[in-house]
Amino acid sequence: MSNQTLTVGLGDRSYPIFIEDGILVNVGADLAKRNIATRFAVIADDHVASLYGSTLMKSLEEAGVTAELITFPRGEASKNLKVFAELSSKLAQIGLDRSSGIIALGGGVTGDLAGFLAASYMRGIPFVQVPTTLLSQVDSSVGGKTGVDLPEGKNLVGAFYQPKAVYIDTAVLSTLPPDEYLGGIAEVIKYGVIWDLDFYCFLERNLDAILALQPSIVQEMITICCRTKAAVVAEDERELDLRRILNFGHTIGHAVEAASDFKLIHGHAVAIGMVAALRLAVSSGLCKRKEAGRVATLIHAFGLPTEIPVDMDRERIKSYIKTDKKSISGSVFYVLPTTIGKVIISNEITEEQIDEVLKQ
Ligand code: GLY
Repeated sequence: MSNQTLTVGLGDRSYPIFIEDGILVNVGADLAKRNIATRFAVIADDHVASLYGSTLMKSLEEAGVTAELITFPRGEASKNLKVFAELSSKLAQIGLDRSSGIIALGGGVTGDLAGFLAASYMRGIPFVQVPTTLLSQVDSSVGGKTGVDLPEGKNLVGAFYQPKAVYIDTAVLSTLPPDEYLGGIAEVIKYGVIWDLDFYCFLERNLDAILALQPSIVQEMITICCRTKAAVVAEDERELDLRRILNFGHTIGHAVEAASDFKLIHGHAVAIGMVAALRLAVSSGLCKRKEAGRVATLIHAFGLPTEIPVDMDRERIKSYIKTDKKSISGSVFYVLPTTIGKVIISNEITEEQIDEVLKQ
């Protein structure tokens, strides 16, 4: 597959997504043409900075784009108000002004943190996403969700704030730890189940090539995911309706992730959550058992977990489900497949159904 450019259609806030093997070295030249900002702060965690910081900085420098690299410690533990405040001060100290911009280089934590910095520094400056994990390439870098965690819960403070451009370099996936890559695959499978049977069949057919990171297949896979995400976001930017389908697998998935004290990788918890949601769809009479089994088989074939760990406290999971931040007036919503490629959103799941799923 050749290089792809997609657009997230949001009127005068529309932006391009470039998907290309090796695009990192061309980010500077492309940004130089775009007139987004007079200078940039590149925000990256210390790990990604050591892997790709110099490539990006060189690309910017060679294109005559002024930029400074600012790092923070790697990991979800950095996605908090303290690191946010430290980075804000750094931006002020280096004299970033209203004509400046931010480049987020990294995974979901970096994109969320740097995006929220961009949304709030000087009441909002432009930003650009250069996602380096599969999860951020297919999901979090597109759509403008930014924010930080509080001790009370994940992503509780933030803003919808769209980037000006997204540069996806599929070559950087080669340095991603296998477990992180698989975590991204869970979100990839999600798109097939909620939206696109053909894409789901593509995943079944190309499982080995995807696991072997075959460039053209991986590029096609990422392109289809981003196209879907762009279509959903263009229709419902602020998650009032359609965008909620992107939470398939996340209600129970988030609860399992929290009950593991965040030791489970997000995508692995989502994989478990998707199988659980499919079981709820079956017990509600919405989805055929065979269809649900087909998805569980694919999730398993990729090497992702399908079952809640046996030693995990079920009551704790239930209490996290009840406090799901996407619930409305105390009512918990589930995204339930009716068949592969179609879902409905329901708040009619009973406690008995949840107990049944948690027993399995
Ligand atoms: N990750 C779900 C969304 O962006 O809406």
